[in-house]
Amino acid sequence: VGDMAEIDVAGLPAYPFIGPDDDPFTPVKGSDLDRFEGPIGKVRLPFGGWAWLVTRHEDVRQLLRHPGFSSDQYKPGFPVLNPIPPKQDDASGLFIFMDGDAHSRFRRMLTAEFMIKNIRRIEPLIEKDVIEALERMRSLGAPADLMNEFALPVPSMTICHLLGVPYADHDFFQHHSRVIMDRKSGPAEVEEALGALTVLLGNLVKAKRTDPGEDLLSRLVAERVVPGELREDELVSLAMLLLVAGHETTANMIGLSALVLLEHPEHLAALREDPGLAPGMVEELLRYLTVVRTGLPRLALEDAEIGGQKIRAGEGVVAMLAMSNRDSSVFGDPDEFDPKRREAHRHMAFGFGLHQCIGQPLARAELRIALLELARRFPGLRSERALADVPQRPMAVTFGVAELPVTW
Ligand code: HEM
Repeated sequence: VGDMAEIDVAGLPAYPFIGPDDDPFTPVKGSDLDRFEGPIGKVRLPFGGWAWLVTRHEDVRQLLRHPGFSSDQYKPGFPVLNPIPPKQDDASGLFIFMDGDAHSRFRRMLTAEFMIKNIRRIEPLIEKDVIEALERMRSLGAPADLMNEFALPVPSMTICHLLGVPYADHDFFQHHSRVIMDRKSGPAEVEEALGALTVLLGNLVKAKRTDPGEDLLSRLVAERVVPGELREDELVSLAMLLLVAGHETTANMIGLSALVLLEHPEHLAALREDPGLAPGMVEELLRYLTVVRTGLPRLALEDAEIGGQKIRAGEGVVAMLAMSNRDSSVFGDPDEFDPKRREAHRHMAFGFGLHQCIGQPLARAELRIALLELARRFPGLRSERALADVPQRPMAVTFGVAELPVTW
């Protein structure tokens, strides 16, 4: 505490670095870097206090696999980057915020669900949804908002297929998940939508007992709920986590990726001519865009050393993924977008270590299919606005554009 009192928090660089006028593809302004004593330095947090910002690729890896750092944002002293809602009673399955055994208990139940054979089952369904959304956009006529018509609907339809939501309920599910994700929704609206989805998922979990399908909810009901390893309310809250964690991230990746390709029409054309380029291009887009731009906050539970810096129990740290994904000791010419970059797969856009994104096979499939169909079906796609005039959401957990008006 003695040391902490001496820290001049007001004099530290304010984090997150990105401001409303920045280029969407540049995660950190040069002027911020000048003020920041890297590679590990103190920053001022948006809601008070300070934290260590960890920026180097190797240091971020070390931090994110270290069991002495907590993800529990309700612990006192946690380096909060975004306003957090009060702790909910029904948040029993939100393992992204859990540590140790409580975390691995849930995570283990889900690993098999994201194995390649389960993703393959969903791929044709994603393809069908992607094509439908694009053809609907075409029928509405140009100009259209690519975020609204395409990037936002695709991930929630995908989650419906993953969970096994019946077709009759898709519109209801989509509508309420949009309300939850929409920044313009008021707290009462969000609460109502969360309630409606909880009821839907609760009924669905009950229905899967008697009428199972080949989906995640059916399998978890049969294998975990029936034997008494998992409660129904835990499963409902797990399903909500999958919806929330997989929605904004993937939607913003689709939107920003489209924006990159509109800025570089030669890559859009290359994708059309050689679909085999898609997986590599997706990895480079994940690296280059790093949509979880505010980084991953953690609280030190014990004294530790990261990248040579002593960190004390009780101090906050933030793994700055956007900078570690541009670490020049790993990525040559890191600020260049190079869809054939060989080391692109070393990015940490999905995090790393204990909490590394469990949905990544699904996210990759969605991105690949979405970009391929976009390139194929809209060869003349153009942005309606100059890059600087595309409205951004700079301070959101997940970085993205607010809308993306396009024509063709
Ligand atoms: C965790 C990014 C898509 C489900 C994470 C983490 C990141 C991330 C950075 C680590 C969080 C941490 O360490 O605190 C992304 C990106 C995506 C994406 C960039 C899209 C491009 C998805 C999808 C799903 C999903 C599609 C599910 C359907 C999860 C879950 C966790 C997680 C459940 C928590 C894992 C744990 O705590 O062990 N994601 N994600 N994500 N993601 Fe994703």
